[in-house]
Amino acid sequence: MLQRSNETNLAAQIATVFHSFTLPSVSTMPSPLSHFGSFPTTRLRRLRRWDWVRQMVQETSLSPANLIWPIFVIEGTNQSQPIASMPGVDRMSIDLAVQASEKACELGIGAVAIFPVTPQSKKSDCGKEALCEENLICTATRAIRQACGEKLGIVCDVALDPYTTHGHDGLLVDDYIVNDQTVEVLARQAVVQAQAGASVIAPSDMMDGRIGAIRKALDENGFQHVIVLSYAAKYASAFYGPFRDAVGSAKNLGGASKKTYQMNPANSEEALREVALDIEEGADMVMVKPGMPYLDIVGKLKDNFSIPIAVYQVSGEYAMLKFASQANALDAKAVIMESMIAFRRAGADAILTYFAPEVAQNLRG
Ligand code: PBG
Repeated sequence: MLQRSNETNLAAQIATVFHSFTLPSVSTMPSPLSHFGSFPTTRLRRLRRWDWVRQMVQETSLSPANLIWPIFVIEGTNQSQPIASMPGVDRMSIDLAVQASEKACELGIGAVAIFPVTPQSKKSDCGKEALCEENLICTATRAIRQACGEKLGIVCDVALDPYTTHGHDGLLVDDYIVNDQTVEVLARQAVVQAQAGASVIAPSDMMDGRIGAIRKALDENGFQHVIVLSYAAKYASAFYGPFRDAVGSAKNLGGASKKTYQMNPANSEEALREVALDIEEGADMVMVKPGMPYLDIVGKLKDNFSIPIAVYQVSGEYAMLKFASQANALDAKAVIMESMIAFRRAGADAILTYFAPEVAQNLRG
């Protein structure tokens, strides 16, 4: 077992090791590392020599069941549109999204997360399309549920940004995203999505108090079994750029930031407060987002709470790995699989990744 230590502890360990190294005979303090033995008797490379032993002592594992595949849906039939900033990811009409979901099911992927690309004509200031039972996300949810039954989880994102002309996740009043009025709309949005067949409601909006309000609304409407996965530690990140291209909210936002509701990338204690509140309000799982630059947050949550954790390898991370691989700077398969196991090692149960089908295929061998 890998021993986690805080900084002070580590400093003490290093000091002790250094001390015993330079003055072995006068050192009376037992080294905290002493149970590892010492060289030359102890050689960690023994357990790295052959594949069978490397696998035997591997501390973490990865299965397709850990994966959640985010997909983008558009109107129409038999339509597929490439996304320039995310090579290899297409926006799909619902019929193609159903086929993709059937493939996901077949590969053993745990769930799909549906993101609608709402036509500009259906966007409004208040994002009322979010509450329409016939909107893209609800229609896609019903179609996928019909095709895959309960074999595949369906995650629906709760937030208003795919539906608002200003591109923000909530209601904009006097240049500010108002909290409590937004939460009322989000709770209704969650119920509409649950009615369509969502298995997981995933609020990504970062309003205060939304988890409690959504849990209450779901329960009052007979959806006690619907899972709430809170985007609890969601940072105001520039890594969401390609996603905003994909759903078309980038031009709506027009350079505006989401810093008044998403977290400051400089903070980590605050992530603990967010998660503690969300657990109290009834979250079943919590998410950290983005993924790779925020693995310390995943580790910290794992150490502090016993609740399943999801991590989102976001669009910008996808783009980095993809473009670098296309330029032959990185080996695509190797870096993708390494990033997956790193998420699991840090403490994530579920991984949202645009690479999900590729990863599942690789795991199959
Ligand atoms: C919107 C939402 C975003 C993502 C998921 N849900 C973007 C944002 O907050 O601006 C980003 C996902 C990604 O970058 O892959 N509520």
